[in-house]
Amino acid sequence: MTHSPHHGHAYAVPPHDSPTGHAALNKWVNKMAAMCMPDRIHWCDGSQAESERLLADMHAAGKCVKLNPAKRPNSWLFRSDPRDVARVESRTFICSQSREGAGPTNNWEEPTAMRRKLKELFHGAMRGRTMYVVPFCMGPIGSPLAKIGVQVTDSPYVVVSTRIMARMGLAALTALGEKGFFVPCLHSVGAPLAPGQPDVAWPCNPAQTHVVHFPEERSIASFGSGYGGNALLGKKCLALRIASVLARDEGWLAEHMLILGVESPEGEKTYVTAAFPSACGKTNFAMLIPPKAMEGWKVTCIGDDIAWLKPDGQGMLRAINPEAGFFGVAPGTSASTNPNAMAACARDTLFTNVALTGDGDVWWEGMTPEPPARLTDWLGQDWTPGCGRPSAHPNSRFTAPAANCPCVDPAINDPAGVPISAIIFGGRRETDIPLVFQSHNWSHGVYLGATVGSEQTAAATDGKLGVVRRDPMAMLPFCGYHMGDYFRHWMHIHKTLSETPRIFHVNWFRKGADGRFLWSGFGENMRVLRWIVERTHGRAFARETPLGWSPRHRDIDWRGLDYPEAQWDQVMALDRQKLKMGLVLQHEELFLSLSERLPKELIFERELLVARL
Ligand code: OXD
Ligand code: MN
Repeated sequence: MTHSPHHGHAYAVPPHDSPTGHAALNKWVNKMAAMCMPDRIHWCDGSQAESERLLADMHAAGKCVKLNPAKRPNSWLFRSDPRDVARVESRTFICSQSREGAGPTNNWEEPTAMRRKLKELFHGAMRGRTMYVVPFCMGPIGSPLAKIGVQVTDSPYVVVSTRIMARMGLAALTALGEKGFFVPCLHSVGAPLAPGQPDVAWPCNPAQTHVVHFPEERSIASFGSGYGGNALLGKKCLALRIASVLARDEGWLAEHMLILGVESPEGEKTYVTAAFPSACGKTNFAMLIPPKAMEGWKVTCIGDDIAWLKPDGQGMLRAINPEAGFFGVAPGTSASTNPNAMAACARDTLFTNVALTGDGDVWWEGMTPEPPARLTDWLGQDWTPGCGRPSAHPNSRFTAPAANCPCVDPAINDPAGVPISAIIFGGRRETDIPLVFQSHNWSHGVYLGATVGSEQTAAATDGKLGVVRRDPMAMLPFCGYHMGDYFRHWMHIHKTLSETPRIFHVNWFRKGADGRFLWSGFGENMRVLRWIVERTHGRAFARETPLGWSPRHRDIDWRGLDYPEAQWDQVMALDRQKLKMGLVLQHEELFLSLSERLPKELIFERELLVARL
């Protein structure tokens, strides 16, 4: 119990029936309630009925649109505040004890000072609202790789989203038991309501947004935003930033990777993970449909964003997807680019910031070649094709259950995870990097991952093109500790493996002198993927190049596609001089900033690369 200076009367934590005997959890929930002062507390059971009730309440309050059940059964559209539309990296903090602990790539603030600031922000932050207690399990229930989190939040949107994205509710609480470890995740949209004050459709507090991680304490506090990774704390905050710290301490890897299975015509199954920076088509690759002519080859999806990888008793690296759904970028997703994602969000889906059609369905740029003649855009305004604005926000999303995806892998709920044979790194590079090559060994592979770079879209660089952002292993915004130590950890993990996954680098985005893509991507990526899979089984041929092992034209399965050798030579071309100047200098820059903690193996790898070039 505490007192509210704002109202001048005592605040008493409202009575609530805790369904758990976990004393530390109950204590934490009461402490958070005393600080945030919600009007009500609700422990989420994760049931369908609970989700339906919350959605009906939000609908009645004008916070969402029910989509036409004949077109999109059991699906809803939310429109966020236009100031709250994406993750905010500038307001994301790793508050380790020392600045060194967070390293030069993270925002850091002294933890005691940050705690003081958060205490002020959260004080009375849930007044007039319900505090939902949301237990969730990242990973299959009962998996030795899974972790439990408990989020308290005043956003019912977060509750219904978490039910799709994670195993949420009583099952997670039961798995936690009375003594189990959980990551406490505090969240408020930061918009308390005075008595009688009407709510807005999407409450938030952009001026005060803070997404804060305490890696030593293994806790998360997020204030001011209700959107995506800022608010669904199981995803980037727990499953990447905090998990990367747990993984370092416990001998495993928490990575920004998709997981897919490749089945050969003979029924042989090979699992692969891949790390690409945001906006490089991870969801499309995770669900790719092989060209018809590659008869019998099949791809199945375990996950499209995050992988947790741990050596098993035999020293084999096994992976789980900690999530249970897809939080996919909508624009560009279509029946031709990704039919599996379209099927996944055909029902039971929450859409955020896409456009609404006249007949109660959704639309976004790229969904169909021709836009509908009239729409209601993501801001709720009338929209026509010529009006000069996109109808859906570029970061609009679908939140869809993985179980709805036609290519979902049967092992997605396997507590043991799946054995990983290959790890792929990649970025968006229009000029200098070949389509595919294989590292010489693990430490060279770690070097490839550590030096991943991606060209930024014009939006991110004020119109300047060709700006490469270094994004080591696609983890730059997601690593919860010093990047130099993170590379060391990758080196260390190798020593704990008896079977080492092979490491590859891909670049789907190379352009020719005429500015056209040299590789059409999407399903055609299966040709590259087949070569990768065959390499892991020692069956495919390659030629050694300064960058690594590369397939020749004749090493690729070209059934059903006329892809001339001359074009192959372009997409695989390697300009030694340019690479030496550009690449290696850029790598130097990254390494300098991490210098004192960089593993020596990476310095050697750079020396070797320079020598080979
Ligand atoms: C994502 C991201 O939303 O990586 O998955 O930004
Ligand atoms: Mn991601």
